[in-house]
Amino acid sequence: MKSILFLAASMAISQASPDGKQLFTTNCSACHLLDQMVVGPSLVEIRKLYEGKPDEFVKWSIAPERKRDGAIEMPSMVHVGEGGLREIYTHVMGISKEVKIKVQKGGDPYGASPTHTSRPQVQRIFMPDAGPAAIAVALDGDTSVCWDAGTSRFRYAWTGGFIDGYPYWKRNGDGLAKIEGEIRYLENSSPFEPLGERKFLGYKMEAGLPVFRYTVAGLDITEKPSAKEGGDGFTRAFTVSPAPAKRLILDFSSTQDVQYTSEKGSWSKNILTLDPIDASEFTITFSLK
Ligand code: HEC
Repeated sequence: MKSILFLAASMAISQASPDGKQLFTTNCSACHLLDQMVVGPSLVEIRKLYEGKPDEFVKWSIAPERKRDGAIEMPSMVHVGEGGLREIYTHVMGISKEVKIKVQKGGDPYGASPTHTSRPQVQRIFMPDAGPAAIAVALDGDTSVCWDAGTSRFRYAWTGGFIDGYPYWKRNGDGLAKIEGEIRYLENSSPFEPLGERKFLGYKMEAGLPVFRYTVAGLDITEKPSAKEGGDGFTRAFTVSPAPAKRLILDFSSTQDVQYTSEKGSWSKNILTLDPIDASEFTITFSLK
């Protein structure tokens, strides 16, 4: 059955070979990080399993099997096509060379044990009030945030514990991770909403924290959440390129009242106005009340 599926898929799809890195970012990076297991195994582990075996790598990606206890089922990547998967293979083997696996503290391969774990910590998981592509980030202190990669936007911040991922990983209950704490900030919509449709381009890890990247109206945006110095809040560092042609007016309204501060731009309640010259790089501090 599996081999028939594989053959049919590889014959049906023969597309030009686009860039492996881009294809990896779009199709795989949500679940596979370079040196640590998040949802799926790290690229270092994949390299160990598949070095010199591109055919088997392609075959797995088109028809993944159930292998690891407690892991979710990897969805078929048949839509990428055999050519694309070979490009991804070359990219994965290349970037995972000479990299060592980061040993996660706590012993739980998903870092989602019900007890508390070290920070910062990133977890791709089904979260309440966010799409299936939510990413939970535990910052320093006791603040955590949820970013929805499906809609390319910040969703909410909470304080207290991180998440109890067990209902999700064990596939019982309602399948949603439980937040351990209280939601203190819930953003009503993306500040870039009025500019048009956003497209998620993936995220990279910088000092243990994710930098999310997306586009809107021809602008390439990165967004990095961090802890606020002194606690009880968080910051979000943005870059926008190229510099926007006119002033950026960004609405950060939330269901809860917070205090907004930034070195650049001017605030009117929850609305930040930035001149083009200031918009290329700015950081906002959100102080929880
Ligand atoms: C929605 C999450 C998700 C996405 C997206 C995803 N994977 Fe996976 N992948 C997994 C999980 C989970 C496993 C482990 C499954 C298991 O062991 O039961 C896995 C395992 C693997 C393995 C290891 C197979 C083995 O023999 O152990 C390879 C190779 C792999 N994925 C390649 C890819 C490629 C290539 C892409 C993108 C084209 C991709 N994956 C996209 C979740 C994902």
